[in-house]
Amino acid sequence: MHVYLNGEILPLEQARVSVEDRGFLFGDGVYEVTRVLPSGLFEESAHWQRLQRGIRELKLETPEGFSREMVRRISLELLEANGLTGRQATVYLQLTRGAAPRSHAFPAPGTPPTLYLSTSPFQVPWTQRKEGVSALMLPDLRWARCDLKTVNLLPNILAKQQAREAGVFEALLVRDGVITEGASTSVFVVMDGALYTHPKDHHILPGVTRDIILALARELGMTVHERPVQVAERGRFQEVFLAGTTTDVQPVVVVNGGKVGEGRPGPMTLALQRALLQRMGGGGSAVRGRS
Ligand SMILES: Cc1ncc(COP(=O)(O)O)c(C=O)c1O
Repeated sequence: MHVYLNGEILPLEQARVSVEDRGFLFGDGVYEVTRVLPSGLFEESAHWQRLQRGIRELKLETPEGFSREMVRRISLELLEANGLTGRQATVYLQLTRGAAPRSHAFPAPGTPPTLYLSTSPFQVPWTQRKEGVSALMLPDLRWARCDLKTVNLLPNILAKQQAREAGVFEALLVRDGVITEGASTSVFVVMDGALYTHPKDHHILPGVTRDIILALARELGMTVHERPVQVAERGRFQEVFLAGTTTDVQPVVVVNGGKVGEGRPGPMTLALQRALLQRMGGGGSAVRGRS
């Protein structure tokens, strides 16, 4: 397996980052995960814009020549080097504030940032997508800037692990009685035939897939509300699903041990799942993960 690190594509075993890297010491950096379809990078522009926003908000420096074209070229070269061209895959990108003696404040201007990219093959778990998964509500212990995709993922990791130990797929994070999002997914709920999801604010990551789902839902004539869903409304949940770059539209059929609706994926969830698949390239065999 080959990875990209600071200007070079090299075998994973040869890629080395300083122990003084601020990503390692402080989690001082941002990341992106982009889906790769046989047709190319999916929603490249939206991922790039979110990355740019994170870089601005965290006041990160970027490597020389850093541009959308540069990231695309590296991504495609890396996919090629790893035999993933024309296949389903993901590209991971991480940018940190670079290596410097440990001190909380930013290092001297001009400290070279660390840019790392890797690729992974991806296969859609079709049975899980079709049958649905279970989820557990857990406290949202994160900070007040969840809108930034930083590599500081400790509360997300702890929630995901707790969910996995309870034998469920995802943690639905709850802050002040409201479901914000999943540990690594956006959350959608159907109540009274309308679609609800948390508004874009500092309490959730502005999911690329979330935006696509909202657009598709409106195209399909669904009523959409971007407003917080209260835990107290649980009794009205007809459908629940998760959305994300590697999660697509994933039905949730059990929450906290109790069935959602009939305990199987609902019609709005399935319609949006189909619509997303269509958007990804019409559901050809490669997209369906059978190639
Ligand atoms: C906390 C959180 N929310 C939502 C998402 C979904 O975002 P996207 O659709 O951009 O993958 C992710 C993805 O990693 C995430 O980590």
